[in-house]
Amino acid sequence: MNGAEGGKAWSGVFTEATDRRVEKFTESIRFDKRLSRQDITGSMAHARMLLETELLTPEEFRQIEQGLQTIQAEIDKGEFVYRMELEDIHMHIESALIAKIGDVGRKLHTGRSRNDQVSTDFRLWCRGAADRLTEQLLEVQRAFVSRCDEDFDVILPGYTHTQRAQPVLAPHYWLCYCEKFERDIDRLADCRKRVNVCGLGAAALAGTSLPIDRFKTAELLGFEKVAANSLDVSSDRDFALEFAFCMTQISLHLSTWAEEWIWWSTAEFRYIQLPQAFCTGSSIMPQKVNPDVLELIRGKTARVSGNLQTLITLTKGLPLAYNRDLQEDKEPIFDSFDTVEMCLALAAPLMARTKLLRENIASRLEEGYLDATALMEYLIKRGIPQRTAHGIVGRIVRIAMERRRPLMQLPLETFRSVDPALDESVYGILGVKNAVHAMRSYGSTAPEEVRQQIEVWKKKLSF
Ligand code: ARG
Repeated sequence: MNGAEGGKAWSGVFTEATDRRVEKFTESIRFDKRLSRQDITGSMAHARMLLETELLTPEEFRQIEQGLQTIQAEIDKGEFVYRMELEDIHMHIESALIAKIGDVGRKLHTGRSRNDQVSTDFRLWCRGAADRLTEQLLEVQRAFVSRCDEDFDVILPGYTHTQRAQPVLAPHYWLCYCEKFERDIDRLADCRKRVNVCGLGAAALAGTSLPIDRFKTAELLGFEKVAANSLDVSSDRDFALEFAFCMTQISLHLSTWAEEWIWWSTAEFRYIQLPQAFCTGSSIMPQKVNPDVLELIRGKTARVSGNLQTLITLTKGLPLAYNRDLQEDKEPIFDSFDTVEMCLALAAPLMARTKLLRENIASRLEEGYLDATALMEYLIKRGIPQRTAHGIVGRIVRIAMERRRPLMQLPLETFRSVDPALDESVYGILGVKNAVHAMRSYGSTAPEEVRQQIEVWKKKLSF
């Protein structure tokens, strides 16, 4: 169906057929068939531009357009035949077109090369992929924001160094992740600016002597800018690296969340109950309900960050302009995208459906002196220098530890033995609830602050 007329597109200068092993080694159709839609879209725009610049007649354009549409339909129906000898998606579609419409099809490649073509296809693909991830990140944010009201009064221990530090409201926790994912969305939008640049018409590396209109093609493809240097088009993969980093950062955020929730689901913590539909069992231990989805979300970060490293190493020291090395750019991006997409698709329902084990969290909240910093700040408010207040509270905590008591259960004389100026009002600051309510700075875990932030998020996500 899509036979290569007269062998390879480049066979003119060759007197020897390509070794089968070389064909197998150099082909990219295995994976770049994923670019088929973008390749056809790019070719349609290119052909329309050729029509407008009178490099194609209306009849030639009509035939090319129809041919490409038929090929797209065949691909959609799964009827299109891929053959290793045809190397890549560009050659497949072009030779299928020639097989369908004959010589007119041989005009499609006018004023372009595969170097600018592959860059355009890949940019179109990355643009779509970035948009998809943005939608998914919004879903994940929605999942967290959707539980903020219901979890509003839940206080969690906040940690630094994995040691209990200060109490925080559960929604403060959820919104913390929303902030991280917001930066991911922002980063994707920023990366998209560099992705959304049209290289088509830069041809191999130097441009073309044909009277093409690169601005027309860019406009037809919805690109924001036209790349200003043909050598740069041929060699630039910054956009792919940036996108790989964006995906790595998403993955890193997810892995932090997954790690925390894995711990939180243990018998030792018992902060959360994961939905069973998102857990798996053990083949030998009948009682096990394992957080494998979270573990894999954490684990898959390795391949996503590995893919970024692959692209960095791939482009290091690569001379201008196009080099075949660059064919290795696609699989890492496809793999990162598939991985992150799947992780986000699972993260949203997991975030929404996991239950907080409120009583269990509350039963141990007064362990770990989460209110010690609040006590110190209470002393500061009474005029004691911070360093002095820190020392006073340290001594009080030491006594409390020795007696295995929370601060609020120490008698007033104990407080007074450390600082005679202390009075009954100290109890108004002790305990996690008071400590949380004592907060007031912008962005803190003070209930009023958190409430305001929840409203900001609800508005933003149009709840
Ligand atoms: N399959 C190639 C790639 O992915 C397309 C560009 C080929 N260009 C060339 N001059 N051989 O990079």
